[in-house]
Amino acid sequence: MTLLAQDLHLHVEGNTIRLNPRDPHFYNNPYPYYAVMRALPQPFYWADFDLWCFARWEDVNALLRDRRFGRQILHLRTREELGLPPIPEELAFFYEVDNATMIQMEPPDHTRLRSLVQKAFMARQIEGLRPRIQALCDQLIDQMLEQGEVDLLTAYATPIPVITIAHMLGVPTEMSEHLLNWSHAMVAMYELGRTREQELRAVQATREFYAYVQQLVAERRRHPTDDLITRLIEAEEQGQKLTEHELISSTMQLLNAGHEATVNVIGNGVYALLTHPDQWAKLVADPTLSRTAVEELLRFDTPLHLFTRWVLEALEYRGHHFAFGEVVALLLGSANRDPERFPHADTLDITRADNPHVAFGGGIHFCIGAPLARLELDIALSTLARRAPKLELLEQPEYRNAYHFHGLKSLRVRVAA
Ligand code: HEM
Repeated sequence: MTLLAQDLHLHVEGNTIRLNPRDPHFYNNPYPYYAVMRALPQPFYWADFDLWCFARWEDVNALLRDRRFGRQILHLRTREELGLPPIPEELAFFYEVDNATMIQMEPPDHTRLRSLVQKAFMARQIEGLRPRIQALCDQLIDQMLEQGEVDLLTAYATPIPVITIAHMLGVPTEMSEHLLNWSHAMVAMYELGRTREQELRAVQATREFYAYVQQLVAERRRHPTDDLITRLIEAEEQGQKLTEHELISSTMQLLNAGHEATVNVIGNGVYALLTHPDQWAKLVADPTLSRTAVEELLRFDTPLHLFTRWVLEALEYRGHHFAFGEVVALLLGSANRDPERFPHADTLDITRADNPHVAFGGGIHFCIGAPLARLELDIALSTLARRAPKLELLEQPEYRNAYHFHGLKSLRVRVAA
């Protein structure tokens, strides 16, 4: 049977869907589409991606934790053995860097790299950053109040995580603009249907960024300071633990991951609050609600919508046979709106108590930056509610055409106390 969900530009035939992820109807509001996907037998086949997908919370949550599915497979077989085409020569450097980061590794390498940075990102360590982040938010709000009308993404959402992660790693704040450009160019490699131009820009950015971090590492070797790069150098020098290439690549990964998603949670979150005035009023009346509000905003308009896993052993799941070497997609943005797990899933409720969303993933790759992101979001939202209670939306924003990086192009607002 062919079902054409007219308003949704979505074709469903059996358990196959056709839906262009670059359709603005979809990426501006994917949630009605997800409702259709969750109603299909799981897994369903998304033809445009050529991927078997899971859209319900129960499966996404389970498969994130299931070690038979992994982020990497090249530790088990070569590309050639897997029948994958070789990486084009001119893109090789990007992958050399990407594959030397923890998110592209499985144990034991993943465990080794992750344990080296884990301590720096534990909640207790991170809490020590509170006064700096608070001062930064206050300073940015002073400027916004003076300007009156601003793009909240550039004036507030972006500088908070960029400056904070740069400080943690020991990168001078003046480098923020470069960090943003390099990072945006690099993450375009994860987009579906990326262009040749995007690929070349990504490789160029990887080279420049790598050279910059390499000289920073050399500088820190000569003059150690109290930052994460220095601590990673110490680990490297103590032997066995990580190579210079892993050290540089991991630093780049932390700098990139340290802001890309957090910026979008602030943007998507403030947009959600301003379009649900009762919820914004609640937060203004009691800014200490920001902790549950942060979790709800992460759930309600999740910034990262799709992650893939390699099937690491042949298996049956939900009656479907998966062969070794296949790839499956987990739709985090859909799982977080699943009414089977979240009562009134499409309702924004900043006091929601039972909220096991999967915005930070789950299992061994659970976001290492979650305590940092949570602290930044908590301070950013409570400070905004306290100091700019009359915040107003100036125009209807649009999302960027990057599907699984779900974030706004800009967010024009009037800022008033
Ligand atoms: C709200 C902001 C953030 C969101 C929603 C988010 C989301 C995620 C998700 C879903 C994963 C798991 C991906 C998978 O399982 O395939 C992940 C992993 C990761 N995130 Fe985040 N992240 C955020 C902020 C940060 C920050 C601030 C850092 C900073 C350092 C960071 C660093 C990482 C790293 C290094 C990994 C890989 C962990 C591993 O492989 O063990 N993230 N993140």
